Amino acid sequence: MRRCLVIGSPIAHSRSPLIHRLFAEQQGIALCYEKREVTPGTVAPLLSDCRANGVLGLNVTLPLKEEAFAAADIHHPRAAEAEAANTLWFDQQGRINADNTDGQGLLGDLARMGVELSNATVLMLGAGGAAKGVLGALLGKQPARLAVMNRTPARADALASRYGIESLPPNLVFRQPFDVVINATSMGLTGASELALSPSAVGIGTTCYDMVYGNAETAFLRWAAGCGATRRYDGLGMLVGQAAEAFRLWHGQLPSVQPVIDFLRRRLKS
Ligand code: ATR
Repeated sequence: MRRCLVIGSPIAHSRSPLIHRLFAEQQGIALCYEKREVTPGTVAPLLSDCRANGVLGLNVTLPLKEEAFAAADIHHPRAAEAEAANTLWFDQQGRINADNTDGQGLLGDLARMGVELSNATVLMLGAGGAAKGVLGALLGKQPARLAVMNRTPARADALASRYGIESLPPNLVFRQPFDVVINATSMGLTGASELALSPSAVGIGTTCYDMVYGNAETAFLRWAAGCGATRRYDGLGMLVGQAAEAFRLWHGQLPSVQPVIDFLRRRLKS
């Protein structure tokens, strides 16, 4: 029986155990996957414990991704780019390997929706850890334009200069809508946006993607609907996609995401 776990704080509502159980059933792997609440500042001793107890790998969620990255011995390129890890495992020598599958989760979900990023104009809302975790992956798709906008413009400026992309001030009015607008703020399901994005950023054909998901349409997607956007997607597929890539890193088999997305969507609606 392989053992994995997801750590974070809070962790009670994590769907990762369910997702990995469904993947394991699909792939015929005997897996025990648990969730554990971990206090910030205690990741390193927890990892020593996991290594001693034969744990294969861990997923890491908020607010521990940077701490997990710092505790690792080997930083794979996607984690190094984001300076944060959401997937860890122990190699034969017992070294802690860190990777980040969030960007792949987002790219996979956009591809699943038929969204073309190459040569597209893309606007990223937010400049925190969630944005930083996926900007490298987005840039790799070579969009025609990639810009970041944030409630606190200085944070957008810092992120933009790190990636050599544009930082746009809130309130800017656009002559043409973006092809893709991605919400990476933590505004969530019910939060009110304090980022004054002009409706001119969004047109009928703009793909509006929220990295958050829930049982109701998110605040950003409701706003996008009000702007007339018809292509609106939440982050459920990204969640399942990042898990699938973590599963592949641990078990060497890439599971099918669609049946798991369908299962979770039905659950959210019921
Ligand atoms: P995460 O790791 O989830 O990205 P974070 O680093 O705290 O968390 O970043 C949260 C992001 O959501 C930031 O871009 C934040 O904007 P600020 O940099 O101005 O704080 C953004 N954010 C949070 N609440 C928001 C709100 N109500 N409206 C607009 N942006 C919001």
